[in-house]
Amino acid sequence: MSKKVQFTSKIGMIAATVGSAVGLGNVWRFPAEAQANGGAAFLIVYIACVCLLGIPVMVSEFALGRAGRSDSVGAFKNLGASRPWWGVGILAITASYLILCFYMVVAGWTFEYLWQSISGGLFQPISDNVSQTLNSHYTNKMNSFITESVNPLINTYAMILINLAVLIAGVQKGIERLSNILMPLLFLILLIFIGVSCSLPKASEGLMFFLSPNFSKLTPSVVLNALGQAFFSLSLGMGILITYSSYFPKNTNLTRTAVTVSLLDLLVAVMMGLIIFPAVMSFDLTGEGLRGATLVFVTLPEVFAQIPGTQLWAILFFLLLTVAALTSTISIAEVSVAFISDRFGLRRWKSCLIVLAPLFLFSSVCSLSLGSWSHIQIAGLNIFDLLDTVATNIMLPVGSIFLCIYMGWIAPKGMFRSQMTNGGSIRSRLFTPILFIVRYIAPVLIACVLISSFIK
Ligand code: PFF
Repeated sequence: MSKKVQFTSKIGMIAATVGSAVGLGNVWRFPAEAQANGGAAFLIVYIACVCLLGIPVMVSEFALGRAGRSDSVGAFKNLGASRPWWGVGILAITASYLILCFYMVVAGWTFEYLWQSISGGLFQPISDNVSQTLNSHYTNKMNSFITESVNPLINTYAMILINLAVLIAGVQKGIERLSNILMPLLFLILLIFIGVSCSLPKASEGLMFFLSPNFSKLTPSVVLNALGQAFFSLSLGMGILITYSSYFPKNTNLTRTAVTVSLLDLLVAVMMGLIIFPAVMSFDLTGEGLRGATLVFVTLPEVFAQIPGTQLWAILFFLLLTVAALTSTISIAEVSVAFISDRFGLRRWKSCLIVLAPLFLFSSVCSLSLGSWSHIQIAGLNIFDLLDTVATNIMLPVGSIFLCIYMGWIAPKGMFRSQMTNGGSIRSRLFTPILFIVRYIAPVLIACVLISSFIK
């Protein structure tokens, strides 16, 4: 058997794993969820979810991946799991591929907005009607761009090709090297934006909303939303962390790595809150303007248009968004690339082509389903929203529940402890509490998130 490839340095390993976790989930989903669920109250519950549930489940994914030393299906197989358990790996690969189909489209939008910011096209009126308000200007821009047939496809294809180039270059020369450059850049841009946003006139009002809790806003649904967001943001239950941890060296401290990755992901979410809330409060842009794509493609450009250095801020912001989307799409695609390479013993470039070439078709279908094909609806949803709902609201939690059951109850005796202590060479006082959470608490709470998404 050929020697399993590994990340070459600790920093590279952390950068790649944080790159996977930090994505559109942090940049636009987190602020939208925080706003809809009471600001600071949500933040506190979110921090608790990341620390008390996210980290233990992440450690268990890492343990499975490093012990199994293979893709998400091979890991179960190598540990001697019976066939039905391989299904958990297959579910994770399927969910991640479905997510990739629409996530790549959104990554394409971020890329288009980066180019539009650089060329200045973002600020030019789309018609001669110059009396538009800023809001309607950017709303029209977004709607006409997203529902257009050709332009979004070109940008999505560009993102697929960039993914292809990085993935073919390999784990060390592609994923790790790119993450080593892009992750520091991402943090630098975030810091610059915090400085700008917090010096805006009504920044303190935004900071109050985000940082001073009103516990009367705490309801069970806030807790479940925070938990769902934490799992989405930490990339849990999709095979990503199983795949990446199969590249971790044997002496990696899994608990410390999970804590570092989770806290950095949390930090990015908090930094986004420190950017978004002061900015939107300063220009009275709360409410509808924080929902999903509107936040990044309408509300923030409106903010940039009202401060000096408009174009520079737009370029920096869409660069940030493109970086976040790129490192996440790469990690999502790597789940399938690793699976194809390991299962069929194919050369890496062939596996990359097998995984990414069909995306030219599938992502096109997703993109068109928002425009000229929006009449095609299944269960009242267009194809884009259908994939999002099925993969993130159903498959992801189901995968996480089974992963917890496997690691908590089924996995070979001693394997989890041995992974957490590196075969007894390091101490892990957290093993017992983590096992307890993975066995009893996480599966029950994730099941509640799953059920609540059906009731909504
Ligand atoms: N964790 C990344 C994000 O927050 O955007 C990547 C990701 C994970 C995307 C899970 C989608 C998903 F369902």
